[in-house]
Amino acid sequence: MSFITLKNIHKSYINGKRELHVLRGINLDIDKGKMVGIVGASGAGKSTLLHILGTLDHPSRGELRYNEQNLFSLNNRKLANFRNQKIGFVFQFHHLLPEFTALENVIMPILISRSNYQTAEKRAKELLEQVGLKGREHHKPGELSGGEQQRVAIARSLANNPELLLADEPTGNLDSKTSEKIFQVIHQINQERHLTIVLVTHNEKLGGRADCCLTIVDGTLQSI
Ligand SMILES: Nc1ncnc2c1ncn2[C@@H]1O[C@H](COP(=O)(O)OP(=O)(O)O)[C@@H](O)[C@H]1O
Ligand SMILES: [Mg+2]
Repeated sequence: MSFITLKNIHKSYINGKRELHVLRGINLDIDKGKMVGIVGASGAGKSTLLHILGTLDHPSRGELRYNEQNLFSLNNRKLANFRNQKIGFVFQFHHLLPEFTALENVIMPILISRSNYQTAEKRAKELLEQVGLKGREHHKPGELSGGEQQRVAIARSLANNPELLLADEPTGNLDSKTSEKIFQVIHQINQERHLTIVLVTHNEKLGGRADCCLTIVDGTLQSI
C-alpha cells in the first residue's frame, strides 16, 4: 500500500470556448519518507499537479488516495482541515508577512492551530534553527536575503508538523549557489524527519537528486 496514490488524474481548464487538457492520465505512487522530484518545461502542468496533490484544486477526473482515503470524496470543510493538518507548502515566492519578524511568521500558524504562545515560540525557534537561521529570528523579511526568506518559508511550512511537504519551484527565484543551499535544507528535512516531499522544479539537476525524478510530457508522467 502506498502512502499517496494518484490514479488516472486528468485536469482541463476552460478558457472561453477552448479546453486546455493539461493533465492526461497521471498515475503515481509515493511511499512514505520519499523525496520525489518533478521536472518539466514551463506550462507542462507541474503546478497544476502539485495543487491537486495538495488538494488546493480538484482534478477533472481521477482519484487522490492518502493512506487509502479517497480525499476528493471529503466535503470542503473536511478537506481544508485535512490540508491544514497534514500538508505543508513552499512556493517560489515565499509569501511571508513583511511587517512581522521571521519568528512571528513561523509562530503564527502554530498559534492558529493550537498551543499557547510560549510553546509556539519554542517550536518556531527550533524550526528556524533547523533551517539554519539561528540568530536571525528577529529580522523582518525585508532584512533577510532571498535564500534566508525562503528558509523562513520552509520553517513555516513545517510549523504544524505536516506528513507531506509540497514545494513548487522553491529555488525558482534564487541564484544557483543559493538554490543548492535551499535544496540541501529540503533534503536534510527529508532525511532527518523522514518527511515525504514532492519537489517541483525546472532545474533538472536538482530534481534528479531526489529519490526518484519524473517529468511531465504531454500531460503524463515519465521517469527520467
Ligand atoms: N487557472 C487556470 N486557468 C486556465 N489555465 C490555466 C490555469 N492554471 C494553469 N493554466 C494553464 O495550464 C498549463 C499548465 O500550467 P502550470 O501547471 O502552471 O504549468 P507549470 O507549473 O509546469 O509551468 C499552462 O498552459 C497554463 O497556462
Ligand atoms: Mg509552475
